[in-house]
Amino acid sequence: MIEQQIKTAIRDIHDFPKPGIIFKDITPILKDPELCTKINDAFLEKLQGLHIDAVAGVESRGFLFGLTLANKLGVPFIPVRKAGKLPHTVKQKVYDLEYGTATIEVHTDAFNPGDRILIHDDLLATGGTVMATSQLIQEMGGEVVGFSFIVGLSFLNGIERISPISDNIIILAD
Ligand code: PRP
Ligand code: MG
Repeated sequence: MIEQQIKTAIRDIHDFPKPGIIFKDITPILKDPELCTKINDAFLEKLQGLHIDAVAGVESRGFLFGLTLANKLGVPFIPVRKAGKLPHTVKQKVYDLEYGTATIEVHTDAFNPGDRILIHDDLLATGGTVMATSQLIQEMGGEVVGFSFIVGLSFLNGIERISPISDNIIILAD
């Protein structure tokens, strides 16, 4: 079963990037092309019937499967980047972290108002990153129609945070 295969592949790295943090390392998944194909197929199966105009992927690990997913759906990919990386005109969102703030940016011409957008990231933890992404997309006139993640850390309650935006939340391994 794919959930178990994902869980087996993901590597827990203790005390990275800071003492006390257990980092979920998805790089072993990337070494396994069969598992990557299964992940793509599982997303596509679960997204069947949902009209999607574009997929927004969050830098950096959300780019890995986000672009593939957009390609397979035959829709544009929207790179959501950390501040200062996108070269054209951007709209940005500043959001709170545990300590301090972070900023994400999207090109103003990345999608059209009214587009139905799926937000993709590798991992759902607190939900802060995809919440900020959702708000930015909504402020730009997009409609957030769902979320997809390879893995979720359910003890951090990210689902509760993002479900008011859309209850189409796909998490392959929870
Ligand atoms: C990680 C992960 C998600 C986010 C999840 O990214 O890839 O994007 O954190 O956390 P949240 O749900 O609490 O917001 P990170 O900021 O480590 O950057 P990276 O993807 O560039 O490695
Ligand atoms: Mg990330």
